[in-house]
Amino acid sequence: MTTPSPVCWTHSDGLAVITVDHPPLNLLSAPVRSGLARALDQIAAHPEVTAAVLRCAGRSFFSGADLSEFDQAIAQPDLPTLVAQVADFPKPLVAALHGTALGGGFELALACPARIATVSARMGLPEIRLGLIPGCGGIARLTRLAGPAVALDLVSSGRTLGAAEAQSLGLLDAVSAGDLLTDARTLARELTAGAPPRPAPAPAPADLFDSFRGRTARRFRGQTAPAEVLACVERATAVPLAEALAAETEAFHRLEQGAQSKALRHVFFAEREARRLPDLPEGTRPLPIASVGILGAGTMGRGIAMSFASAGLPVTLIDKTQDGIDRATAAIAGTYARQAGRGQITEAEAAARRDRITTGTDIGALSQVDLIVEAVFEVMEVKQQVFRQLDAIARPGAILATNTSFLEIGRIAGVTSRPGHVLGLHFFSPAHVMKLLEIVRGAETAPEVLLTAVELARRIGKVGVVVGDCHGFVGNRMLARRQAAAGALILEGATPWQVDRVLHDFGLPMGPFAMADLAGLDLGWDRETSSGASIEECLCEAGRFGQKTKAGYYDYDETGQALPSALTDRLLVTLSAQKGITRREISDAEILARCLDPMIEEGRRILAEGVAARAGDIDTIWVNGYGWPAWTGGPMYWADHRGG
Ligand code: NAI
Repeated sequence: MTTPSPVCWTHSDGLAVITVDHPPLNLLSAPVRSGLARALDQIAAHPEVTAAVLRCAGRSFFSGADLSEFDQAIAQPDLPTLVAQVADFPKPLVAALHGTALGGGFELALACPARIATVSARMGLPEIRLGLIPGCGGIARLTRLAGPAVALDLVSSGRTLGAAEAQSLGLLDAVSAGDLLTDARTLARELTAGAPPRPAPAPAPADLFDSFRGRTARRFRGQTAPAEVLACVERATAVPLAEALAAETEAFHRLEQGAQSKALRHVFFAEREARRLPDLPEGTRPLPIASVGILGAGTMGRGIAMSFASAGLPVTLIDKTQDGIDRATAAIAGTYARQAGRGQITEAEAAARRDRITTGTDIGALSQVDLIVEAVFEVMEVKQQVFRQLDAIARPGAILATNTSFLEIGRIAGVTSRPGHVLGLHFFSPAHVMKLLEIVRGAETAPEVLLTAVELARRIGKVGVVVGDCHGFVGNRMLARRQAAAGALILEGATPWQVDRVLHDFGLPMGPFAMADLAGLDLGWDRETSSGASIEECLCEAGRFGQKTKAGYYDYDETGQALPSALTDRLLVTLSAQKGITRREISDAEILARCLDPMIEEGRRILAEGVAARAGDIDTIWVNGYGWPAWTGGPMYWADHRGG
C-alpha cells in the first residue's frame, strides 16, 4: 500500500490550487518536497492552467524544514532545489499564508512572485536560533524585497513578524481579512495580467554594515552565524541574485556542519524532550488549573504573579504586610507600564494583566484557588509553618508549591496532610522574564500533579524541567560548586575581575563576583556574628554591600560602571596571608577549568543519582536559567564535545 501524497492540486477556470496537508506543522519533509515538485511540474506543463495558488491545510503554512532530517543524507529534491523550482516557475504563483510561515517555509513563500496572508499570520526566518542562516535564498530575497537594513534585523534576530508589519515592509502583496483562498485566487488572476511594479525598498544608511558590526560584536560574542548573516546581506546588495543564492546555500551548509549549530540543535531537542516525563503511569491526566494564589509578595512573588497573570490566569497575591503588598503593586504596575511603553503589549493588555492580580494580607483569600505558590523567606521553619497554614485553608485537591531555591521538598510536604499534592516550582529571577522552571518532585508528589506542573509551565511560556529532591536541586547544586571554586581562586591569587572576565568570555552573561554584587553581599550577613573570616564578610564590614551601595567586590562609578577595586585587592592579600595561602599568578585556562569542571562532575553525580532524568535536562536548565551559552550546547553536552 502506498501512503497518499501530502500534496494535491485541482484546477478550475485556468487557475490551479495546490494544497499541502502534512500535519501537524506542515514541515517541508521529503514527501512534501517531492509531492510539491511533481505538482509544480504538472501545472507548468498543463495547457489550460495560467496561474496557481500554493496553500496549506490545517493549522499553518509551512512551519519550516524538518530538523529530524539534518545530519542525514537528504532525499531529493532538497529544499534549495525546490525553492529554485518555485522561483523559476513559469506561471504566476501566489503563496497563501496562514498560521506560521517560518524558516524554509517563509523562504519558499519569498521565492513566489506574490504573497498574501491572513491578518493573524506570523512569519520569519528564525534559523539563527539554531546557529544557522536561511540557506535557500531567504537572505538574498529579503534584501531585494525589503532592503538590507530589514534583512539584517530580521535574520540576525530571528524574530517573527505579523502580517501588517510584513506588508508595510514590502514582504506581502496583500493581507486577507476575509477568505484567504478566495483572495489568493483573485490576486493570482490579477498577476496573469502582468505583475504590478514593486516599489524599491528605502535606501540603507551608508554606514549600515559597519554600525551593525560595532553594535553586535558584544551581543553575539562567540557565535559564528551572525557574521555569515552580515556577509550574506552585504553580498546580496552587491552581486547578481544567482551568485548571492549560491553563496548563501554554501554558508548554510558550512554552519550546518559546524559545532555551534549541532550544539544548538541539541538544545532545541533537549528542551522538547524535557517535557516528556519518563515514568508517567498510563492514563495520567493533568488537573485543571483555573486560578492561582501566591504567598509572599517579595522579589520572587511579584514576578511569579506576573508570569501567571500575563498568561491569562487570575492571581491572588498575599503578603503578611500591607507594606509588602504596596511595594509589589507598584512594582507590578511599573513593569506592565514599561512593557506597554516599549510597545511589547498594548495599554489595554497592560491594564488587563494588572487587573488579573488581586492582592491582600489575609491568607484565607487563598482558600478556593487551584494552585498556591509559596515565596516567603528561605528558612525551613518558616516554610513549614506556612505550609501547615496553607494545608489548613486550601481546598481539598489544591496543589501547594514552594519556590524554595535549596530546601528539600520532602521536609516541607511532610508537615501537610497532602504530600502527594506538594511540589517545588522553582522560578528564576526575574521570574516574569526568565524561562526556566525547575519542577521539583518530592518523594510523594503524585504523577498527575507533576504532569499538571509540566503543562502549566508550557501554558505560561516557561521551559519546565522535572528534577529530583535534594539540596539545591540541579541548577543551584551545580552552581554552588562553581562558587566555591571561584572563592578559592581569588584567595590563591586570581582577581575577581579576572575570574569574571574568563567566564564572561566563555559566554556566560556575568561572572560570579559581578553577580554577587548585583544580588547584594549582605544577603545572609549578620553584623553581630561577622568575624572577617571570608572576603564577603570583610567587604560587608567595610560597608560594601554590592551595587546598591556603589561598592562591593567592584567599585562603581556614577554611571554604574564596574571598576576593579584596589581595596578588594588589598583585603584579598591580607586574607590569603592570614590563611597561610601563597598567592600566585593563575592562568585563564586554569580558572576556566577549575570553575567549570566541578560543575560537570556534580552534573554527572546528579545524573547517577537520578535527580535529573537526562543529561539534556541539565543542559536545558543551564541554558534557560543561568545564561549558559546555548551555542556550546549546555554544560553536559559541552563537556562531552569539547576538544572536537
Ligand atoms: P523577599 O524577601 O524579597 O520576599 C519575601 C516576601 O515574603 C516578603 O515580602 C515578606 O513580607 C513575605 N513573607 C514572609 N513571611 C510571610 C508569611 N508568613 N506570609 C506571607 N508573606 C510572608 O524574598 P524573595 O527573594 O522573593 O525569595 C522568596 C523565596 O524565593 C525564597 O524561598 C527564595 O529562596 C526563593 N527564590 C529566590 C530567588 C531570588 O533570586 N531572589 C530565586 C529563586 C527562588
